[in-house]
Amino acid sequence: PTPSSAAAADFLRCLSASVPSQLVFTPGSPSFTSVLASSVRNPRFLTLGTVRPLCVVAAANASHVQAAVLCGRRHGVRLRVRSGGHDYEGLSYRSVRPEEFAVVDLAGLRDVRVDRAAAAAWVGSGATVGELYYAVAAADPQLAFPAGVCPIIGVGGHFSGGGIGMMMRKHGLSVDNVLDATLVDASGRMLDRKAMGEDLFWAIRGGGGGSFGVVLSWKVRLVRVPPRVTAFTIQKTVAQGAIDAVTKWQTLAPALPEELTIRVIIQNQQARFQSLYLGTCDQLLPVMSSRFPELGMSRADCREMSWLQSALYINTGSTGQPLEALLNRTTSLSTFTKNKSDYVKQAITRESWQKIFPWFNGPSAGLIILEPHGGQVSRIADGDTPYPHRSSVLYNIQHIAFWSGDGTAATTWINGFYSFMGQFVTKDPRAAYVNYRDLDIGQNAVVGGVTSYDSGRVWGEKYFGAANLKRLAITKGKTDPGDYFRNEQSVPPLVPNK
Ligand code: FDA
Repeated sequence: PTPSSAAAADFLRCLSASVPSQLVFTPGSPSFTSVLASSVRNPRFLTLGTVRPLCVVAAANASHVQAAVLCGRRHGVRLRVRSGGHDYEGLSYRSVRPEEFAVVDLAGLRDVRVDRAAAAAWVGSGATVGELYYAVAAADPQLAFPAGVCPIIGVGGHFSGGGIGMMMRKHGLSVDNVLDATLVDASGRMLDRKAMGEDLFWAIRGGGGGSFGVVLSWKVRLVRVPPRVTAFTIQKTVAQGAIDAVTKWQTLAPALPEELTIRVIIQNQQARFQSLYLGTCDQLLPVMSSRFPELGMSRADCREMSWLQSALYINTGSTGQPLEALLNRTTSLSTFTKNKSDYVKQAITRESWQKIFPWFNGPSAGLIILEPHGGQVSRIADGDTPYPHRSSVLYNIQHIAFWSGDGTAATTWINGFYSFMGQFVTKDPRAAYVNYRDLDIGQNAVVGGVTSYDSGRVWGEKYFGAANLKRLAITKGKTDPGDYFRNEQSVPPLVPNK
């Protein structure tokens, strides 16, 4: 293999002193493409035009990560860290602009060690949330963890951005349940919570991946779940009253008992109410008939199962699969997506929903997912973690366009829809969720060798709010003032005036 520059050659030589050669994949290695593609979710960023890394380092232990940081610093080669590879903009393995960088892939660092008595676990960043769920339930079926719906997303990126899911109303975000972490910083040091200090520990729990260092593992508090939970899915077409039901859902769902999460997927001319109740069908039925009779839920809709089964059911809609499907790490590369997000603080009127639903007609239309807040996720103060969308938020909206082949029509749809929705959602700034990464809302500019704070504010205040962004940037200024860990949406370093 011929690296493209002297810096790259020096970097690879430096790496070879500390990392076994079979763990370093350069474009000359026969398996480079398959290793690079191994966890890529979005084939938009696996094209011939994509700016690819000069190598992938498949770290097998912490010292490999430290070596990559030290060699990278010494020879001026930046790193992109990849855990599950599910970043919506591919920032864990590609660069928007031409740049020589290396990928440190953490898929090999995915141990889950459960301490049943303490109801806690250490999990490696390279684990998927499905692997975490599976290992926790294997240790004790009445323990679980609140994280995302899709089992294949990586712990490393997911926890770095917050972690919203079906239990956040009862137990908060993933990051609200992180107790400790180990991180390799920009100097190559391994730090735990005590050594990194509370500002940095605050920042890595929701301030977005790729800004502060490489988080190797996380200690999490596990939560108790009942032996049986109840899942149900009810669909309503517009003709069956979808518009009235969604209108009511907006203020109802955030105020329901915290054991009950009802999220909504709007696609075609239908609203799909996807629900998880941490209790039995007998307990759930009176809640539904008194609070949400419009759904017409009955005993026949109840699917009682273990919490672990529900994690699979809610993602796939099927009860027939073995639980081991949660361990599957193979991604399909057939669907291209573009995702955007919003938050709603004031319910959208019925008349407005009548104008929104027609957008979900036609072959290029995508879908939206509405995730209710309220309960524990909203009780935590906006500044307690970098995730600021707390007390006043009714729900999050994820916009999704998907296609195979030519994406022009689907992208036109999502851009038009997002712009139409602007009148109904939070404004000044229009809020967004960092884990639903969207480069359209702003990208960094580098001025004098570091990311400028002004360019970071454009997108960063949408994800974190002004106060949290500032605290993130000051923390970045203390821990990585030279801006080594940098990407298109990394937190800029801010060094306060002396
Ligand atoms: P990936 O490895 O691509 O990393 C994402 C970012 O974090 C990159 O910038 C990367 O450099 C950085 N990073 C990764 N590992 C790091 C580490 N160890 N230390 C420091 N930085 C690191 N979200 C949600 O909250 N709830 C949900 O239900 C879902 N569902 C969902 C479904 C599907 C199909 C997708 C594709 C995505 C979601 N998400 C989600 C969004 C998801 O939380 C988000 O994409 C995460 O960043 C994915 O984490 P990965 O480790 O897979 O990403």
